[in-house]
Amino acid sequence: MIRIRSFQWADEQAVVELWQRCGLVRPWNDPHRDIARKMSTQGELFLVGLLGDVIVATVMAGYDGHRGWINYLAVDPSHRKLGYGKQLMHEAERLLRVMECPKINLQVRAGNADALEFYRRIGFAVDDVVSMGKRLESDE
Ligand SMILES: CC(C)(COP(=O)(O)OP(=O)(O)OC[C@H]1O[C@@H](n2cnc3c(N)ncnc32)[C@H](O)[C@@H]1OP(=O)(O)O)[C@@H](O)C(=O)NCCC(=O)NCCS
Repeated sequence: MIRIRSFQWADEQAVVELWQRCGLVRPWNDPHRDIARKMSTQGELFLVGLLGDVIVATVMAGYDGHRGWINYLAVDPSHRKLGYGKQLMHEAERLLRVMECPKINLQVRAGNADALEFYRRIGFAVDDVVSMGKRLESDE
């Protein structure tokens, strides 16, 4: 079992390195700016999972008043398939339920078969929608 708590600023470097190991960092998403944005909006829903003092997992949850959202779910490659991703998602789900969030949405990059299978196993289904986006601020 991992110990779960909210992100603290002292975690920043370890979290960014974890995301890099997990292949979640892209040029158009500066992870440091993403963390700063999250810490100014429902920062308490940005969770880290620890084994001892070592951060091995993260998830960024949020509730916009209509849907809950999940981003930056990551489990260290050397600690996968041990139930940590599921444990972290259960905690994110619990916190969103407390806020009376009726449904969680999330986006998975096309081709990320591992994540799609993981989410199916924990009760998510593919919605019949096309995901659209519009960038308002460039990180590049
Ligand atoms: C997706 C990810 C978070 C899963 O974390 P994890 O800790 O390995 O997952 P868990 O051990 O909690 O697995 C929960 C269930 O999903 C299944 N599962 C997890 N990864 C799987 C995979 N690659 N293929 C098939 N099933 C998988 C487990 O077998 C388990 O099933 P069960 O409950 O029926 O036994 C992890 O692989 C990861 O960090 N991937 C890289 C980052 C990423 O893609 N994040 C998602 C961005 S949208």
